[in-house]
Amino acid sequence: MMELVSDYQKNILGLQLPTDPRWVDLAHISLEEILTDHAYCEQKAATSCISLIQRYPDKEKLVTELAPIVTEEWGHFRLVLAELKKRNLKLGKQRKDEYVNKLINFQKKGGSDEERFLDKLLIFALIEARSCERFKRLSEGLKDNYLSNFYRRFMESEAGHYSLFIDLAETYIEKNIVRMRWQQWLEYESQVMKELEVRGDRIH
Ligand SMILES: [Fe+2]
Ligand SMILES: [Fe+2]
Repeated sequence: MMELVSDYQKNILGLQLPTDPRWVDLAHISLEEILTDHAYCEQKAATSCISLIQRYPDKEKLVTELAPIVTEEWGHFRLVLAELKKRNLKLGKQRKDEYVNKLINFQKKGGSDEERFLDKLLIFALIEARSCERFKRLSEGLKDNYLSNFYRRFMESEAGHYSLFIDLAETYIEKNIVRMRWQQWLEYESQVMKELEVRGDRIH
């Protein structure tokens, strides 16, 4: 299991398309917007984990493992909120999440329960992986030491969540099937990234 996880880990920042380097500079000059967007990403992560628990109460491992992640993601939301406040910035309105909406389009509509379940887990794994990659970019690209450390903590945390969703998928579904579908998701995601405008007011 550990080997498999580390195999995926190598892939994580090897998402097929690395973030456009211009993005970090754009994000830095729109700090209020990027923090607002980040806050809602954390809120949505918490809400999504709650939805999974509500949807699959019979999957004991999933419930046990995701329950503390809800707390953690909500903790992240609060950290970002505190950061806004400290800087006298305001939490703005939630925007339409084009990246996530495009990913949702790729989810299997018909298919078996298992296929739909797998896609749910993989979409979350993917969002965690891309968020992790973006936080890594911010952490490495910002000249401000404080912000650099701030984002590094999120990067580490989201990397762990990414592994957890993959691990959950492999707990309930055959590994070969998980791997095959994961490759399809990675390819699709790189297309999505290519098509999205590079904007500094959003995490993805
Ligand atoms: Fe988070
Ligand atoms: Fe997360």
